[in-house]
Amino acid sequence: MSNAAKNKLPEVEIPDVRTPKILQGQKALVTGANSGIGKGIALELAKAGADVVVNYIVDPDSALDLVDQLKEQGIASFAFKADVSNEANVIEMFHQAVKELGAIDILINNAGLQRDAPFEEMTLEQWNKVIGVNLTGQFLCAREAVKIFKKRGVNREISCSAGKIIHISSVHEVIPWAGHANYAASKGGVMMLMKSIAQEVAPHRIRINSICPGAIRTPINKSVWSTPEAYDKLMELIPYRRIGETDDIGRLAAWLASDHADYINGTSIFIDGGMTLYPGFATGG
Ligand code: BGC
Repeated sequence: MSNAAKNKLPEVEIPDVRTPKILQGQKALVTGANSGIGKGIALELAKAGADVVVNYIVDPDSALDLVDQLKEQGIASFAFKADVSNEANVIEMFHQAVKELGAIDILINNAGLQRDAPFEEMTLEQWNKVIGVNLTGQFLCAREAVKIFKKRGVNREISCSAGKIIHISSVHEVIPWAGHANYAASKGGVMMLMKSIAQEVAPHRIRINSICPGAIRTPINKSVWSTPEAYDKLMELIPYRRIGETDDIGRLAAWLASDHADYINGTSIFIDGGMTLYPGFATGG
């Protein structure tokens, strides 16, 4: 029997913590917001009082459904289709966001994908697709957001910062990942992109950080949680012995975007149930 199976813990029910309105009056743009982690973040930002632009590229119905759910929180929201790896699409999206909402205070640079392959079989197309969306996409969106934040500056009635960017990276910005060289390279790139921009724009009171999720229950990794065998195997990599949920990430994003986190700048926050603790060493080494 595996260690994970021996140490089996019950699934947890996370209480629906009442979210204070720590983002009241702020405007957020979330890329890849219509599913997975992006959706979880959009819902939590709205609960915290922010208006939310829902960026998507496929499945418009899910984006429109989410907009309806967000509006139920009493905030403004609209969906915008844009490929984050396409410069013209990104420029148009930010233009539209400012036109409709009057400002953007928060960018959640979330859109991301995997195209896995053993290294010698990885095609240039698989490489370029992952780097294009996960890294170039985060660059293009961050660049437009920084322009907007600098132009407006600090509006103290809204926030003590001129703007916030949260890059959604991964534990794989530090954990190498065989069979996923393109993905791990993109996330390693996100780390240095985030830190370099943070250093450059901090004097403008713009805060830039990354959230690094471990295994979160989303469509991207369904194969590792959808059967009991796969789930048990996954637990061997997670000392806290549960998979993450999208609202775990959403609550962190809402807090990190708020003035409660005003002195946090240029850092990666890992949210992974201990996946980065070298779990293989728990029983020796
Ligand atoms: C990947 C998931 C994976 C997790 C932990 C994430 O960045 O997208 O597929 O389960 O890292 O390995």
